[in-house]
Amino acid sequence: MDSANRIPRHVAIVMDGNGRWAKKRFMPRFFGHKQGVDALMRTVRACADRGIEYVTVFAFSSENWKRPTEEVSGLMGLVLVTVSKYLTKMVGEGVRVRIVGDLSQVSDRVRAALDEAERSTRHNSRINLSVAFNYGGRWDVVQACRQAIEAGVSATSLDEATLSRFMAMNFAPDPDLFIRTGGEVRISNFLLWQAAYSELVFSDCLWPDFGEKQLDEALADYARRDRRFGLVSSADQLLTAKA
Ligand code: IPE
Ligand code: IPE
Ligand code: MG
Repeated sequence: MDSANRIPRHVAIVMDGNGRWAKKRFMPRFFGHKQGVDALMRTVRACADRGIEYVTVFAFSSENWKRPTEEVSGLMGLVLVTVSKYLTKMVGEGVRVRIVGDLSQVSDRVRAALDEAERSTRHNSRINLSVAFNYGGRWDVVQACRQAIEAGVSATSLDEATLSRFMAMNFAPDPDLFIRTGGEVRISNFLLWQAAYSELVFSDCLWPDFGEKQLDEALADYARRDRRFGLVSSADQLLTAKA
């Protein structure tokens, strides 16, 4: 399918590089995470302005618990601060927030703040922001299988469409564009199932520096891609049609 001049419906982002951004400034890593929240708010607004319907960001991975306790608790605290600082703005800007991930492992206070963000934005429809928190692509596949088994889906009736209905992102189309900032070229256990046909864009920009310019670069890159989904290229399809 030709994606020229197309705006992706769904953009997924691995917001990486906060620690290095802070280190370059001789600041603690937490400072980078804090600036990362501002970059997130900027980016969500920019996505909404461009008509993107869904933005899904990786905020805390299943593996991030392995970081020093100090950093983990800093990140948990940042959730509380972010919700109290930005929730009203998000409500006003029409952002619908959803949290995807295993919230059974997070503290009651953090869970309550995340619940509140979902609850108070549930009538919004300008843009859908999904925050992947204690999320892992492998966790997602396993939890979907568990739910399917509990729902009584039999081995013979289980297919891709059925399992998709139990995946954490079942409310959204698969991401069209998958952006990772911070210079690493890997998925790091983000949306493994859903990103099967996403266009991947890797940027050296450290997440706290991300904004409209970097988003537009990624969108321009996306618009140049020929999404084939296993078909022949769109140029070849035209040739075949003419012949
Ligand atoms: C991404 O930035 C944010 C989280 C994983 C929470 P990092 O903290 O991974 O920053 P770098 O990769 O060390 O620079
Ligand atoms: C991925 O970044 C997770 C988030 C952005 C939340 P990491 O910094 O944890 O990934 P690795 O460890 O470099 O693969
Ligand atoms: Mg990192």
